[in-house]
Amino acid sequence: MTPTDPAAGLVPAPRRLVHGQGAYALDARTPLGAAPGAEGVARWLRATVGAATGLPLAEGAGGVELALDETLAPEAYRLVVDAGTGVRITGGTAAGLFRGAQTFRQLLGPDAFRRAPIAPGRAWDLPAVAVEDEPRFSWRGLMLDVSRHFLPKDDVLRYLDLLAAHKLNVFHFHLTDDQGWRIEIKRYPRLTETGAWRSRTKYGHRASDLWDETPYGGYYTQDDIREIVAYAAERHIRVVPEIDLPGHAQAAISAYPELGNTDVIDTTTLSVWDTWGVNPNVLAPTDNTLRFFEGVFEEVLELFPAETSPFVHVGGDECPKDQWKASPAAQARIAELGLKDEDGLQSWFIRHFDAWLTERGRRLIGWDEILEGGLPDGAAVSSWRGYAGGVAAARSGHDVVMCPEQQVYLDHRQDGGSDEPMPIGYVRTLEDVYRFEPVPPELSEEAARHVLGTQANVWTEVMQNRSRVDYQVFPRLAAFAEVAWSHLPAPADRDFAAFEDRMTAHYARLDALGVDYRRPGGPLPWQRRPGVLGRPIEGAPPVV
Ligand code: ACM
Repeated sequence: MTPTDPAAGLVPAPRRLVHGQGAYALDARTPLGAAPGAEGVARWLRATVGAATGLPLAEGAGGVELALDETLAPEAYRLVVDAGTGVRITGGTAAGLFRGAQTFRQLLGPDAFRRAPIAPGRAWDLPAVAVEDEPRFSWRGLMLDVSRHFLPKDDVLRYLDLLAAHKLNVFHFHLTDDQGWRIEIKRYPRLTETGAWRSRTKYGHRASDLWDETPYGGYYTQDDIREIVAYAAERHIRVVPEIDLPGHAQAAISAYPELGNTDVIDTTTLSVWDTWGVNPNVLAPTDNTLRFFEGVFEEVLELFPAETSPFVHVGGDECPKDQWKASPAAQARIAELGLKDEDGLQSWFIRHFDAWLTERGRRLIGWDEILEGGLPDGAAVSSWRGYAGGVAAARSGHDVVMCPEQQVYLDHRQDGGSDEPMPIGYVRTLEDVYRFEPVPPELSEEAARHVLGTQANVWTEVMQNRSRVDYQVFPRLAAFAEVAWSHLPAPADRDFAAFEDRMTAHYARLDALGVDYRRPGGPLPWQRRPGVLGRPIEGAPPVV
C-alpha cells in the first residue's frame, strides 16, 4: 500500500505507510501508557479520542503506548499498529508524537472526530499498519484575521483544533487593523474600550452599497489570550501575534488620536473604520508613537512567551505615504534622521522594532513591504505579493514564509461560478491549492533553505462569522496541509485524483467535526449570498 492509497485516507499523506495483517481492536480494557515526555499527548488523546469513543484508555502498558525516540527528527513519528500487540507511537519530541497521535485518530475513522460516542459499545478497529512520517516544512501555518470580523475565543480554540487535525503548527494571529483592535492592553485601555468597536459594517466588497447597521466588535482579554496560547502549546502549535504598524492603524488612532498625523488631519474625528481597503490614516513617525508601541509589545511579549512565540509579526504592509508627505512634522523627522524619503520612515519603524525585539530574544517578521528600504539582519519576511519578495529575501539570507496571495489567500473564491458567496479575488480551486509549490524553482539550494515553510492567509472582510470562515478555508486547508507537510513531487506531477479519493474519507472527518466546508458541488443554498457584491479578478492569468 502506498501513502496515497485511498483505503488509508490519511490527510496529509504520510511519507511511508505499509499495511500489516489484520486489525487491532480498542475496547474498554485497552490501556494507554505514556513514557516520560509523552504525558501531554496522552492527556490530549484521553480528552479527545476518549470522549469520541467513550473508552477510558486507563493508564497502563500493553495497549496504546506513547514514547519519545531521540533518534527521530523533532516532528517525525513512527506509528505501528500490530494486530497482536497493540499500538506504539514514538516521536522525536512530544510535537512529533502529537503529529503521530493525529494519524492514530484518523485511522480510527470519522467518528473519532466527534465529541461523544454515537454508538456506545461499537468496535474500534485499527488496521495493522506501520507509518513513518515527518514534515517537509517546519513552518506550516494559517493566518486568521480577527480584526475585520472578530472570531470569539471559542471559535479560535476550535480553529487550533482544526489546525492540529491537519498537522499544522503555526497560528498567525492578526490582532489589529483599521477595523478593530482585538487584544486587551492594560496600560492603554482605550485600545479596546474604543478601538474594538465600530458602529456599522460594510456588507460585501467596499463598492457594495449594503451596510450592516448593527454595532459590531469584540476583543480578547489578557486571560483569553493566555488560554489561547496555552491551548495552542498543548497542540504543539506556535502562535505568531501580529500588531500591524505603521499602516493599518486607524483603530489605534481612533482610541489615541495623538498616534496619528495630527498636523495633517484632525485625528480626533476618526472612528474605527467601517469599510474595507487600504487606509490613509497611518501612525505619525514620532518618539511618542515608538514609546506607545513599545508599551504594547511589552505586554504582548508577556502574553506570548518566547518558547512558543519566537517570532513576533509587526505587519508593515500597505502603508500609504500621503500623510507623511503632507506632514511638516514627518518631513522634519526625515531631515533629522537623514533619511532619503518617506519610505525611509517606514523602514525606520521596522528597524526600531527589529532591534527592540532582538534585544528581548525575539525575531521580527513582517509582510514583504518591509524589504523596501533594506531589511535588518535576522528579520524574516511573509511573502504575500507573489513570490518575488520571498525570493529577494531568501537570496539575501533572510528567512521567508511563502504565502503568495495569488495561490494561498483563502479569502479568494474557490470557483468561478456565479453562486460563490461574495466572490473575491482569483479563482483558486482545491486543485490549484494542491499544486501550490512553496519553494520557487529559481532559488539555489542554499537560498531555498531560507524558506522556513508556508502559510495560508484568511482575510475576513466578507466572512462575518465562523461558518463563512469555514466555507472559505475548507476543504482547501486540507490540500494546503498536504503541500506543507507531505513530500509531494513537482506541481505538475502531483496525483490530484488520488488526493480527491482520500478526501472522501476526509470529508467524513470534517462532517464529524462540524466544519461548514464548501461541498465539491458548490455552495449549499444557505451558503450563498445572492446580491452581495464581491470583487472578482476576472480573467486573472492562471498561475504557473
Ligand atoms: C496583506 O495581504 N495586506 C498582507
